[in-house]
Amino acid sequence: MEKNNFAIILAAGKGSRMKTVENKCMVRLLGKPMISYVKECLEPSLFNQVICVVSPTETEIQTVLPKEVRYVIQPQPLGTANAVLQCLSLLEEKQGYTLILPGDVPLISIDQIQNIVEEHLKNNNDLTIATAFCDHPQGYGRIQRDSCGNILRIIEEKEASKEERNIREINTGLFCVSNQKLVELLPLVKNENHTQEYYLTDLVDLLAMRKARIGHCVCPLENMVGINDLTALSQAEEYLRTRTIRKWMDSGVYFENPHTTVIGPDVELAIGTKIRSNTTILGTTKIGRNVLIGPNTEIEDSVIEDEGVIRHSVIEHSLVGFGCQIGPFAHLRPGTILKGENHIGNFVEIKNSTIGSKTKAGHLTYIGDTHCGAEVNFGCGAITVNYDGTKKHQTHIGDHVFIGCNSNVIAPIEIGDFGFIAAGSTVTENTDPYDFVISRPRPTVKKDYAGKYQNNENN
Ligand code: UD1
Ligand code: MG
Repeated sequence: MEKNNFAIILAAGKGSRMKTVENKCMVRLLGKPMISYVKECLEPSLFNQVICVVSPTETEIQTVLPKEVRYVIQPQPLGTANAVLQCLSLLEEKQGYTLILPGDVPLISIDQIQNIVEEHLKNNNDLTIATAFCDHPQGYGRIQRDSCGNILRIIEEKEASKEERNIREINTGLFCVSNQKLVELLPLVKNENHTQEYYLTDLVDLLAMRKARIGHCVCPLENMVGINDLTALSQAEEYLRTRTIRKWMDSGVYFENPHTTVIGPDVELAIGTKIRSNTTILGTTKIGRNVLIGPNTEIEDSVIEDEGVIRHSVIEHSLVGFGCQIGPFAHLRPGTILKGENHIGNFVEIKNSTIGSKTKAGHLTYIGDTHCGAEVNFGCGAITVNYDGTKKHQTHIGDHVFIGCNSNVIAPIEIGDFGFIAAGSTVTENTDPYDFVISRPRPTVKKDYAGKYQNNENN
């Protein structure tokens, strides 16, 4: 018989306690969906196939999990046993084990999963339950043991008597079970309980009655919390936030006010970098050495190279080259590439543009869909006019161009190297290298006429 080890992530529940619009398992913890944390802990060497059970209307999960995951649909959320039941045809005739994980245990670690599987294999168990000890076990299934310490069953909170609710050992929701036992016994689980759900935990009872080998692996509770509501989410987020910042402090990153700072789990920081108050850095952002960030800055999915200074700014999906000075109050939108030593100052917005090294835009500028050369100066209020109301158009600006204050460069357009655009001009035609452009109405000056409009005693 073929040997195949499976991991089944359960993500088809209603999530009604979370009260969010999206699927509970897609709720983000420090910017990353809970289910991604769970999937990332599944070492490929331990599992031939990862299966995710989803509801018929689910589409979001498929966009965040990697391609190799196989999806199985649970037509109705009839309980965790019913969710696993939908996968049984894939397990039939396969030797090996299946690890079942809820999609709402994001603090789990690779080591913990390895421990559970090792425990299962070492003892030749039919089922290994990951348990934890808990001072406030509300909401969890309780582990019931006999006088010799053997696990007899798991009692769901809703089914437990007052006395049983005092049990401190809880079910974390992770089961490692032999494929054969799962295929044989799962269809026998019934829904004769208070909620009329098919509880996966009833499998324990069925195995115990057949004298199967049931083992356990005690895990630290802080890694195993099940996130059922927004209070649990906020506690888990706080735990992860503090743990992440401590890790970076130990690696030589300074935090001015760590209580106000959020660093996502996949962010990379480097030695000598200083993060000031009220700063949030998320996604796959990578920050180089000796960078000063904040206060009041948001960065997502971006690269900031060494020696940069980023103050009071928002940066999304962008690359900020070596030694750039950004802000205060700059907004780098997706697709911005700054080649290095750029100064992007007050109220400047850049989108989908590549900006050559040492180019500066100090104040009140919009640059969109632009390829700009090196050592260009954007004067205050300069705008690349990229949108005609229907389509977006490209602007090409050469090296060493001077763009005077309050200029409009109307795309599609090319401005040659060393060009000079006089302040207040609206440029609609391509220019060659060294061209000077001026387009502004001649002023009319009327001598001593201002008094007509000045409300003072001399009128
Ligand atoms: C479950 C366990 C409980 C354990 C706790 C640990 C059961 C019956 N109870 O309770 O013993 O202490 O986890 O966190 O298993 N799901 C489906 N289809 C369904 C129902 C649920 O896919 O029909 C998924 C959910 O999306 C979720 C996971 O299964 O990811 C667990 O469901 P949840 O409702 O969170 O179970 P708990 O009440 O937390
Ligand atoms: Mg849960």
